[in-house]
Amino acid sequence: MNTMKFLSEELDDLKRKSLYRKLRILQSPQQSTSIIDGKTVVNLSSNNYLGLATHPRLKKAAVQAIEKWGVGAGAVRPIIGTMEIHDQLEKELAAFKHTQASLVFVAGIAANRGTIQAVAPDETDAIISDELNHASIIDGVRLTKAKRLVYPHKDVKGLEEALKKAQGSRRILVVTDGVFSMDGDLAPLPEIVEKAHQYGAFVMVDDAHGSGVMGPHGEGTTFHFGLQDKIEIQMATMSKAVGVLGGYVAGSQDLREFLIHKARPFLFSTAHPPAVAAACLEAIKVLKEEPEHHQKLWENTKFFKSELTRMGFNTGGSVTPITPVIVGEAATAMKFSDLLFEQGVFAQGIGFPTVPEGKARLRTIVTAKHTKEELSKALEAFGKVGKKLALVSA
Ligand SMILES: Cc1ncc(COP(=O)(O)O)c(C=O)c1O
Repeated sequence: MNTMKFLSEELDDLKRKSLYRKLRILQSPQQSTSIIDGKTVVNLSSNNYLGLATHPRLKKAAVQAIEKWGVGAGAVRPIIGTMEIHDQLEKELAAFKHTQASLVFVAGIAANRGTIQAVAPDETDAIISDELNHASIIDGVRLTKAKRLVYPHKDVKGLEEALKKAQGSRRILVVTDGVFSMDGDLAPLPEIVEKAHQYGAFVMVDDAHGSGVMGPHGEGTTFHFGLQDKIEIQMATMSKAVGVLGGYVAGSQDLREFLIHKARPFLFSTAHPPAVAAACLEAIKVLKEEPEHHQKLWENTKFFKSELTRMGFNTGGSVTPITPVIVGEAATAMKFSDLLFEQGVFAQGIGFPTVPEGKARLRTIVTAKHTKEELSKALEAFGKVGKKLALVSA
């Protein structure tokens, strides 16, 4: 008897809906031109915004940390897994975010799950969330018993209605992405913070795609809006612009201490290997000392985005280096991606459930490391394939 028949049944269903994915294999470091499945292509699908994943200073810091500390932390953070290097990193992150303190989790997903569950755990609490928030926020919300209220994307009126409904709750958390990961648009943080505070709620911003990208020196979306002192919980990752791995929460010293005692992914998961912490620490220094990466990222972003728009592609409301090319059906997105790959360009097709049904897309991300030639080659391929699929005319 095949007790696991559901596996093949569900996989067949995904294939029917063009949502089945084969893992592509990267055979080079994560670079602007990479070798993917044996082909050399312009890579428009990494989150390595500043190119730090291969930065010599980070690599050196990681190797030195291995020599000094070994390859593993050997314990969960609250027992004896907190090495000096983890402590230094948290201090540096707090300084970077201009907060009293920070706390690192093994990944962004762990930071979101752990923090949301810890700060609003009970039936008497309420969590108000943008409908397009990242899956790790949704997971965090699912882990609590709190009342859940979801407002339409970036809709401050919808948020206010939810805040009214949540009145009487013990704690009210409003949580939003800073930069939305599939659309590249920004949350209206000034209005969100104002409404939340008016109704006695506190705000958590997931700045996974804003940190290293938004703000004068990449401090994040909260800095872009000048709200760093008003947002109670700033969450970010070190797996994207920082180029390494890990999630963190920056805020007050009380928030840090509270999470040390209450956040389950912090309590029950082994600390980062020292090489990870050392590379992250070096990355934060590079962000401060080498502003040219941040400048180049925005130069490339402006060029690529404006060209895609000029060609007639639907790039939604993106204002960041994440530029979606929205095509509608998942089958079209996957076909678009495959044809681009044949032309030497990799841009991943994305469908449901990562984005809503009928809003399938290619999600492109330029980095500081892309050259004008690479971006021009990619744009030429987009034009050619876009015409072939009748997505653009000229
Ligand atoms: C908005 C957002 N939050 C959180 C995460 C999770 O971060 P990590 O990859 O560090 O687990 C991601 C990454 O995909 C993301 O895009």
